[in-house]
Amino acid sequence: LLASIALSACSGAPQPDAGAAPALAPAASIASDEDCIGCHASEAESWHASAHRTAFSDEVFQAEWAATEQAACVRCHAPLADPESPRGAEAELGVSCVTCHLREGEVLSVRASPSAPHPVRIDPSLSSEQACAGCHDFTFASVAPTPHDLGAPLQHTVHEWREVSDRGTCQSCHLRDAAGRVSHAMPGARDPRLLASALGIEARAERGASGTRVRLTLRSRAGHAVPTGDMYRRLEVRAYFEGGEIERGEIARTTLMRRFERIDGLLREVSDDRVPASGAREVVLELGRGRGPIHWEIEWQALEPSLAAQRWIPDEDARRPVIEGVID
Ligand code: HEC
Ligand code: HEC
Ligand code: HEC
Ligand code: HEC
Ligand code: HEC
Repeated sequence: LLASIALSACSGAPQPDAGAAPALAPAASIASDEDCIGCHASEAESWHASAHRTAFSDEVFQAEWAATEQAACVRCHAPLADPESPRGAEAELGVSCVTCHLREGEVLSVRASPSAPHPVRIDPSLSSEQACAGCHDFTFASVAPTPHDLGAPLQHTVHEWREVSDRGTCQSCHLRDAAGRVSHAMPGARDPRLLASALGIEARAERGASGTRVRLTLRSRAGHAVPTGDMYRRLEVRAYFEGGEIERGEIARTTLMRRFERIDGLLREVSDDRVPASGAREVVLELGRGRGPIHWEIEWQALEPSLAAQRWIPDEDARRPVIEGVID
């Protein structure tokens, strides 16, 4: 049963179909990624720089995977590899051309392509959220056995997106370069330009005799909650009086994240104070007595910093500045 749940969780991810390809491909063999890469240089170049390409090989995944080595992880992180024993080129390719484009020996495309040397099947779902949903929206059950509440969402990006789908498709924000052309680099939260566009902020301070209260109203401008994705993603919000030396206690801070607690032997989500896809998140920080301008800043964190340090995850993978400002 668990195996079939795992399969259906990733059913949005095209499965490789190397066996069927040669029979249908006229001029060229399209059975392998190397072939796609050889003919489609610009797509290959941007994909090479993507997190999809390194979905299995990157250090952050390897650090967590080493602890469990569950076959279920491989279906999304290296769909071409043998789930029981992922290794070699199949694992190194991560989420590759074939995974998203090849079905029964035909190449999925959003449009007809008469000059292509391979069969092309027009599939409108390639430009919809369906092309991403199989891997970007799933429950704990799909990576069972885990000590989590199995029916609960582990990643919920597509559900979050449905609340605000008028902001565009996943592809319109993630599959385009700055000039609006298709790019397979697929930036995420570690891309400074994309991350800087994630939030709209109103900041104000209420100064009183006993102290200063900083109020930040955060709204998502992404196509989902912020931060979205992995269950450990979090935002740290900080404020302090500018000037002078900042001692530890003088920085007011809070963390916005999903929180989990063990209930009846299962780890369950008990709260979620990330910035929701629609509506606002109000953050209140109490500063002591002080004068002058107040600096506020928001940092994206892939996971809890102490855990990141324990796993030797480099800072640029573990934390990124989102946005900052000053209240005079
Ligand atoms: C022998 C060279 C060759 C191979 C191998 C090849 N393609 Fe193509 N492909 C082309 C050409 C030529 C076109 C026509 C459009 C163009 O000129 O870019 C095309 C069209 C496409 C299209 C339609 C998009 C468009 O702009 O018309 C997609 C998608 C595509 N290929 C993906 C793939 C994938 C994925 C693979 C590997 C499974 C692959 N191709 C293998 C040469 C190749
Ligand atoms: C994570 C899924 C994914 C991966 C991996 C992927 N593609 Fe795509 N590709 C797409 C989607 C989605 C589109 C359609 C974008 C749109 O909405 O126009 C697309 C579009 C294309 C196009 C048409 C480009 C255009 O300008 O319209 C080509 C050609 C293509 N891909 C080739 C490749 C090749 C070659 C690789 C591997 C190097 C690859 N893709 C990897 C999802 C993927
Ligand atoms: C076969 C599964 C699969 C499919 C299909 C897929 N993804 Fe992903 N995607 C992943 C995995 C796994 C990662 C995490 C990679 C890693 O380890 O950092 C990821 C990472 C990402 C990231 C984060 C990049 C970063 O720098 O952290 C973005 C953005 C993304 N995907 C967008 C998309 C979009 C948009 C689509 C649909 C067009 C899509 N993905 C389809 C599996 C998939
Ligand atoms: C209006 C633009 C927009 C749309 C539409 C959008 N995103 Fe994003 N996405 C962002 C921004 C901005 C970020 C960076 C903030 C964050 O991590 O939440 C991001 C981050 C991500 C990440 C990276 C999380 C990480 O940990 O690095 C993934 C994965 C992702 N989006 C997937 C999707 C998918 C899947 C869809 C469609 C269902 C989608 N996005 C629709 C703007 C968008
Ligand atoms: C249904 C598909 C799916 C399955 C199954 C899955 N993942 Fe992922 N995983 C993703 C996607 C999509 C992302 C990208 C989300 C993001 O960047 O926030 C991701 C991100 C991650 C990350 C963060 C990578 C980074 O660069 O920060 C780690 C670590 C990870 N997964 C480990 C695992 C492990 C270990 C398993 C098995 C126990 C697993 N995943 C199973 C889809 C999946």
